Amino acid sequence: MAPLTNKRILLGVTGGIAAYKSADLVRRLQDAGAEVRVAMTRAATEFITPLTMQALSGKPVHLDLLDTEAEAAMGHIELARWADLVVIAPASADFIAKLAHGQADDLLTATCLATAAPVAVAPAMNQGMWAKASTCENIATLESRGFAMLGVGEGSQACGDIGPGRMQEPLTIVAAVEALFKTGKLAGRKVVITAGPTREALDPVRFLSNHSSGKMGYALAEAAAEAGAETLLISGPTNLPAPERVRLISVTSARDMLAAALEAADGCDLFIGCAAVADYRPGSEEPLKIKKSDDILTLTLVKNPDIVATVAGLPHRPFTVGFAAETHDLEAHASRKLAEKKLDAIIANDVSRSDIGFNSEDNQVLLITDDTREALPLLGKGQLARVLIEKLSTRLDERRRASP
Ligand code: PMT
Repeated sequence: MAPLTNKRILLGVTGGIAAYKSADLVRRLQDAGAEVRVAMTRAATEFITPLTMQALSGKPVHLDLLDTEAEAAMGHIELARWADLVVIAPASADFIAKLAHGQADDLLTATCLATAAPVAVAPAMNQGMWAKASTCENIATLESRGFAMLGVGEGSQACGDIGPGRMQEPLTIVAAVEALFKTGKLAGRKVVITAGPTREALDPVRFLSNHSSGKMGYALAEAAAEAGAETLLISGPTNLPAPERVRLISVTSARDMLAAALEAADGCDLFIGCAAVADYRPGSEEPLKIKKSDDILTLTLVKNPDIVATVAGLPHRPFTVGFAAETHDLEAHASRKLAEKKLDAIIANDVSRSDIGFNSEDNQVLLITDDTREALPLLGKGQLARVLIEKLSTRLDERRRASP
């Protein structure tokens, strides 16, 4: 699988002669598997046309902050939410100065200010501008605020000067982007994640199940692998391919999932129960197809074992995290499940909305522990998964330090 598969990258192009290299960068990012959208400043359009970038990316190019039509389609806030990573290439001295001061007077600066995704910056400018104290200070400010500064190349410049300030080559930027998704926060850790629905057979052709697509759990597995964990994904039936560097065990029923989880829990550091496990299964599975006869068919259901609670009850339990899928009284129900299942943390998910939760691209959750409650913003599931893995790995480290 290509290294940037499932990654959504917003490429911001600002005004500079190196903008011609951005066209190639779109292609190189796509070759690496990324989905790319392009936003351009007005100055950038003087160097390369939006039409070129649109043809290469296969998506409309984003240009204006105050264009009602464009904002209605995918405005700067949606764009900020959509991106897993924003790459500014080339980033002019002027754009870097605006970024360092939190200005938001065009679409690209406003998107950078609004996004929760990391922002990588590939500067390009004349060597004299690059050496100026004001530029150096702006770069240092961005570095201190967590922007990924990709540095510059050296050599002859379009203006005839020779020195540092050339934009990095597209393949160098792609390699840096790939590295940014690998955090190493869970290096040496073993993580087990359950995902998707379970199916509880009624007869050879029918089953009880739910609407889980597996997207949230698979995104968590991908984020855990990017963070360096040895990652095992135990999944009910979904249409998703296994994420890269993740070992996938496919199961069908809750009882299959429990057996796989108990086997995997040995030596596991972090267990996340994201699967929508069927709470009940038919009391008996009919060996032959149930025939239509009476107007009313009465089913007897029996309770399934609780997987995440069973893992949390093991003598050498991992740091155990559940999800709570709720249609009402989100926080109260989630807090009750946190206590009843003896979990270390619970992720409360409102599943009454169609834009988040089951089978959606985005999600919005509350992360609750015994003594904390944090509301996370509405994000793409990939981006949210990375935020959750980062927060859970910090908790895991704190726990280890408290009781080594
Ligand atoms: O898969 P997607 O389409 O991306 O949707 C994501 C999601 C909505 C499924 C996910 O974000 C989510 O909320 N998962 C939990 C679904 C669920 O079953 O919630 P629950 O409140 O019924 O269960 C609470 C916790 O107990 C969960 O961690 C669940 O995995 C676990 N559980 C429940 C029953 C059971 N028999 N065994 C369990 O381990």
